[in-house]
Amino acid sequence: MFKHTVRVFIGHTICLGVAAFLSGITCVHALEVNYTNSAHGNATYGVNRSDMPDAYAVGNCAHCHVQHGSVDGSAGAVHGFALFSANLVEGADITYKSTDSVCFQCHTTSNSRQQGGSVPNPDYAETFGGFSENSDQGVLEQYNPDTQLEDSYHNLDEVRIYAAQNFAWFKEYTTPCEACHNPHIARRNKAHVKDPTYTAISLPSDHGNLWGDDAGETMARYGGDYQAPFYYNSTTSYEPGGLLNSDPSKVPDYVTFCNECHGSEKAPIYSTRRERNLVMVNWSAAGDKHGARGRDGKTWLREPYATIGGKSNYVLSCVDCHEPHASPYPFLMRRSINGQPLNLNEPGLGPDKRGFQCLQCHQDDNAMGYGGVNDWARQHHGLGGDSPYSGRNNIGPSGKPLANCDCHGAFEGDIGSGKNPIRCEICHYHGSSVPNPAGEWPATVTPKNGEQKTF
Ligand code: HEC
Ligand code: HEC
Ligand code: HEC
Ligand code: HEC
Ligand code: HEC
Ligand code: HEC
Ligand code: HEC
Repeated sequence: MFKHTVRVFIGHTICLGVAAFLSGITCVHALEVNYTNSAHGNATYGVNRSDMPDAYAVGNCAHCHVQHGSVDGSAGAVHGFALFSANLVEGADITYKSTDSVCFQCHTTSNSRQQGGSVPNPDYAETFGGFSENSDQGVLEQYNPDTQLEDSYHNLDEVRIYAAQNFAWFKEYTTPCEACHNPHIARRNKAHVKDPTYTAISLPSDHGNLWGDDAGETMARYGGDYQAPFYYNSTTSYEPGGLLNSDPSKVPDYVTFCNECHGSEKAPIYSTRRERNLVMVNWSAAGDKHGARGRDGKTWLREPYATIGGKSNYVLSCVDCHEPHASPYPFLMRRSINGQPLNLNEPGLGPDKRGFQCLQCHQDDNAMGYGGVNDWARQHHGLGGDSPYSGRNNIGPSGKPLANCDCHGAFEGDIGSGKNPIRCEICHYHGSSVPNPAGEWPATVTPKNGEQKTF
């Protein structure tokens, strides 16, 4: 939607003059409708910098763009695009501060430049999934997460560099938030969580338009195979926002969105944090089983997938599991998945316990009425047929594999007569066909990009 007007605006060089947009000529007209529909341009709750003279109405462009470095005579540095703040975040592993992006100047709950001093934006798990713990979070606070096990965030410097290399409109000094949001059109989704026509995102390859506001831009594209996860702490309502029925047309198509950078046909992404290229993600029928590829044989799922959804081949959304910005957990993992929290104290988190982010949707031994929370012996050994390692090292009455097992050893991939779990991501990761339902270990397992030690 909005294709015409915004394209005209963005492409029009006459609009680049700061004076032009402040005095409101042609290009402003073209933008007007979309801008005033946007969160920033709204006359009630839009941009309103507290250090600006009252003469500047709420929503006025000048709350972000400074004319000739001064507003009514008051001095102020002019930065790229005549913005009131520096815009360049540099450095691979840093603590983010408000001066790293013009956006952080306002999108923080401490000392926001916006009138009132605070613009709260909780994470996806909370805003759309109903998880409640950090409601006073701003985006800046999200990017400096607390740590549970190992925190993570979309490294903004690396996102900026990647976007500059791969999307022609994106300049080297464009603020990285713009890779996914267009501040001139982004809408206030947090006030309308069930309505994606209020989407806040734009595809990196189509920056002039919103993404998710047209029918063809939602998870309904996957032929009804998307099942929305439960809303937090509920087994009767669904994301986003607690709908009474799963409705894929209410969820922007995040698969296409995230795979604009992560898709298996895209340029490789090097991650400083991982010290390697990231595994690229393939959601097609030839790719992951969490994508369009069908599951095999019996799968011990939990609701709403087991019977309520009842589909033969679910296609999941990336944000069913991941946050788009950051997380207190590794790999941008959501704080809650499918209506349940991740921070289970029992039996603790750890690299060999990755199941803490599977058991919300899959039955662990406990859910099967058999063993401990986050134990997975029965899935792998105990049920015959489709259970990949049944008939071999079967589990005993204690719920653990029987002795003299030739795979489980001490942690870190040892092979030998142990009973410890084997680190899950040796076998399960994006792009692994897991490795084969017949069960193979260890010789034919291809580890993730050569990495086995860290997770
Ligand atoms: C919330 C802050 C914000 C507001 C409000 C805002 N802008 Fe911008 N604008 C930006 C940012 C950030 C950029 C830099 C874009 C980039 O990095 O590619 C920008 C860039 C621009 C550009 C250059 C675009 C290009 O592609 O080179 C123009 C022209 C512009 N804005 C006009 C306006 C007008 C006109 C208004 C009001 C109708 C307005 N802006 C309101 C943040 C804002
Ligand atoms: C001058 C302050 C200011 C700046 C700078 C600013 N914003 Fe905002 N932004 C706001 C306000 C105010 C709202 C609406 C507040 C609300 O809904 O609580 C908003 C809303 C949004 C929304 C819609 C979601 C929501 O919370 O309602 C997005 C997305 C957004 N901003 C992104 C950005 C990005 C990206 C940048 C930088 C390019 C940016 N903002 C810069 C003040 C600002
Ligand atoms: C990799 C893409 C990506 C980057 C980079 C990114 N965001 Fe977001 N952002 C998202 C997605 C996806 C959402 C989830 C909400 C949605 O879809 O509306 C979101 C949500 C938001 C929201 C809340 C929207 C709402 O309505 O609740 C704000 C505000 C926001 N982002 C601002 C920022 C700022 C500021 C930055 C830079 C510091 C940034 N984002 C960087 C993808 C991104
Ligand atoms: C504009 C490009 C871009 C988009 C869009 C994008 N990413 Fe990323 N992503 C990156 C880059 C660059 C990195 C490497 C830097 C890093 O690890 O933080 C990365 C890293 C990651 C990582 C690894 C983090 C870690 O801790 O190692 C995950 C998980 C991820 N992205 C998920 C997503 C999801 C989910 C979406 C959609 C909501 C998304 N990305 C959208 C560019 C993008
Ligand atoms: C948000 C819910 C959700 C989470 C979290 C989740 N899964 Fe799944 N998983 C599913 C669904 C739904 C399917 C069935 C997909 C289909 O129908 O093609 C599935 C299928 C699978 C399959 C294929 C099973 C078969 O019989 O072919 C494997 C293997 C799997 N998941 C492993 C994992 C692992 C490992 C984790 C944790 C790291 C995990 N899943 C987390 C929902 C989830
Ligand atoms: C040695 C390789 C290997 C390791 C290590 C491994 N798995 Fe699996 N897992 C498999 C195979 C093979 C399957 C069957 C895959 C299929 O059907 O596609 C499977 C299936 C699963 C399934 C889906 C079962 C279903 O059909 O319902 C889940 C969930 C799962 N594993 C979780 C885990 C967790 C959690 C860990 C770590 C504690 C782990 N796995 C470690 C090989 C492994
Ligand atoms: C069922 C939950 C689930 C869904 C859905 C999901 N992911 Fe992941 N993702 C994970 C887990 C768990 C990890 C970390 C463990 C691993 O890589 O084995 C991960 C890791 C990643 C990584 C880091 C890979 C690396 O090299 O270490 C990226 C990038 C990523 N996911 C992107 C995506 C994108 C894009 C989508 C949607 C197309 C998506 N994920 C959907 C669970 C999920």
